Amino acid sequence: MHIKKFLKPKNFILCSFLFITACIEDAPLDSLSPAGPYARTIDELFWLTFWIAVVIFFIVQGALLFSVFYFKDSPDKPEPKQIHGNNFLEILWTIIPVIILASIAVPTVRTIFDLAREPEDALKIEVIGHQWWFEYKYPDYGITTANVLVIPEDTPIRLEMWSNDVLHNYWVPKLNGKRYLVPGQKTYLNLHADNAEEFWAQCGEYCGLSHSKMRGRVLSMSESDFDAWVINEQKNADNTLSEGSLAYEGQQVYLNAGCTQCHVIGGVWDVQGERIAPNLTHFGNRNVFAGAALKNNSENLTKWLANPAELKPGTFMPNLELTEREIEALIEYLGTLK
Ligand code: CUA
Repeated sequence: MHIKKFLKPKNFILCSFLFITACIEDAPLDSLSPAGPYARTIDELFWLTFWIAVVIFFIVQGALLFSVFYFKDSPDKPEPKQIHGNNFLEILWTIIPVIILASIAVPTVRTIFDLAREPEDALKIEVIGHQWWFEYKYPDYGITTANVLVIPEDTPIRLEMWSNDVLHNYWVPKLNGKRYLVPGQKTYLNLHADNAEEFWAQCGEYCGLSHSKMRGRVLSMSESDFDAWVINEQKNADNTLSEGSLAYEGQQVYLNAGCTQCHVIGGVWDVQGERIAPNLTHFGNRNVFAGAALKNNSENLTKWLANPAELKPGTFMPNLELTEREIEALIEYLGTLK
């Protein structure tokens, strides 16, 4: 773009807005507010590099401004002394960058190894990427869930990850850096949250139409809350609905409208279809759905069940042409899956 065309008040205002967005307080994907040791390690490296860059910036710009003004040409000034080919200076300004780069490279390499090391006594959780949602499995507990990753606070977590289709990328900015989810290959990422808190996750690699809606939540909770969560997740869904109730009607919709082709509900329908969709056994306990892009409430569920692709373009969840009554019953049923 021609620079003069760009330097218009309109563009300046637009750029200012972009700049101001950096000041937003409530930023759940802010990678500069670490909430665990791994994210803190990265943060420390960032600030070290940042301040080195700041010092270099002022030295270089200062030298530039000094040269511009001090050596400004005027008729009565003689030509300044030329330093081209000065051996001492050539060696000096080769050694200085070497020292700077080394002082960044050593802590960088150390950080890379620190982050990759498998922590002792870590809780192992599998993360599987799907277009466009994250599936979580706890092999030690026999739990399968989706969208919301539940972890105990102040405990090292070892994620073993892969993709079921295309490249995805797992990123919880407040807990660690990004790591690819690759089809047919395992990758690993450590998480560790200081406190009980809710964190946001985001797929960090363009993976198709609804990549931007491939989000996630990480819920860290106290040891006792986590234990209670595990015990509940290991149970099947409550299957004692009274016949004639709206929830019972909703269960019939689930069983007959085509949902069972992809969605499992433990104890109600345990056969996994060819396409894997989120396990719904404890859907009612999750605060988000549809790749964590939507809050779990009846308003969003109504829109979603009426036409999923309108909210999440490209989604593999088909429009099942449900009637209003069927949708209402299904939402009632989903609410009982605690
Ligand atoms: Cu998955 Cu982007």
